[in-house]
Amino acid sequence: MAANDRETSFIHTGEEKDQAFKAVVPPVYKATTYHHADPWDPPPYDYARSGNPTRQAFESALAKLEGGVQGFAFSSGMSAITAALMLFSAGDHLLVTKDCQGGTQRVLRDVFSRFGIEVSYVNTDQLEELQSQRQNNTKAVFVENFSNPFLRVTDIGQVSEWAKSWGLLTLVDNTFLTPYLQRPLSLGADLVIHSASKMIAGHSDVTAGIAVALEPELAHHLYFIQNATGMALSPDDAYQAFRGLKTLPLRMDRAQASALTLAKALTDWPEVTQVYYPGLVTDPGHETAQRTANGFGAMLSFRLESPDRVREMVKRLRLTVIGAGFGGAETSISLPELHCHAALTREERFERGITSNIVRVSVGLENSADIVAEFQRAIHFHQNTARRIPRP
Ligand SMILES: Cc1ncc(COP(=O)(O)O)c(C=O)c1O
Repeated sequence: MAANDRETSFIHTGEEKDQAFKAVVPPVYKATTYHHADPWDPPPYDYARSGNPTRQAFESALAKLEGGVQGFAFSSGMSAITAALMLFSAGDHLLVTKDCQGGTQRVLRDVFSRFGIEVSYVNTDQLEELQSQRQNNTKAVFVENFSNPFLRVTDIGQVSEWAKSWGLLTLVDNTFLTPYLQRPLSLGADLVIHSASKMIAGHSDVTAGIAVALEPELAHHLYFIQNATGMALSPDDAYQAFRGLKTLPLRMDRAQASALTLAKALTDWPEVTQVYYPGLVTDPGHETAQRTANGFGAMLSFRLESPDRVREMVKRLRLTVIGAGFGGAETSISLPELHCHAALTREERFERGITSNIVRVSVGLENSADIVAEFQRAIHFHQNTARRIPRP
């Protein structure tokens, strides 16, 4: 897809207009029930859990942007992931990205394990690991790309091809990259999932999830799960998320340009012992990211010398939000053990190298010099040359 088409398609998804009156945004249909004047020739909608025009507009827009047959919007990213995991049955085994977000690991460990689903965590950017961990009952690879918090880059095309050769499905959590930067279905994946609470909705004010299937058969199963479990997104939230989607390319371009600037600055400061950002040419995932994605995204992580340095940094931040979410207009940080990976046990975090000196950053839409100055003042303060930013 040409760059201009990629941007334009977010505004003109074909779903943006009200089908009934041609209003330039889809209305929020709140009704739970639709009147069937002729019950033997029913209208398209029946009952809100089973289908809703506002939700459908958002779902169809995402399906087009991701290049799948059908999209399914859920009440959160976790419900989209839960619905996708419900495609599997007792006795099935899944290969899952080792450093994926804590919620995925928690639902697998404490819910799906009770229903007999087995999991092996692997670095999905290492094909040998996938090969060595595959079992006779393996049914799918679940990739989170880029990974979280270490921004490891999986070659989705390579993994999907390998998965297909063994008859496995490939599921991709594309939250970090969004369909603007990568379209996993066009690289061979079967299902793409998002926490739309993040970059897609983009303003830290909606909780939503979406899953898009490449083929009708998978779409059919997912629709059954969405309807049967009642985890679908509300019409109000579908409206809000759809509204955010239109500005995703603009926001992403700006945020990822600042992310690269910040990542480069961080590598210059001696207090920072490691920077994880695939946009850096020195990053081990740089080449794969450059080849398979249209950008490097707005997320990065870094390590400071010690947990004490992290505490000092937090005290000095003035603009930055500190907490679990990401992908909003404001720059935010998460401390994995307290926020995005709090759902893991201490041992699970240790096993994944998630220590208390790691900071994950979601770079926002502020002026890029202000973002760098903010972190320079907070981290590199003993040589503080950053200009002062007044508290807002
Ligand atoms: C990559 C990723 N996927 C899914 C989720 C879950 O999304 P939600 O918080 O909307 O349930 C998160 C949450 O942080 C996430 O980081």
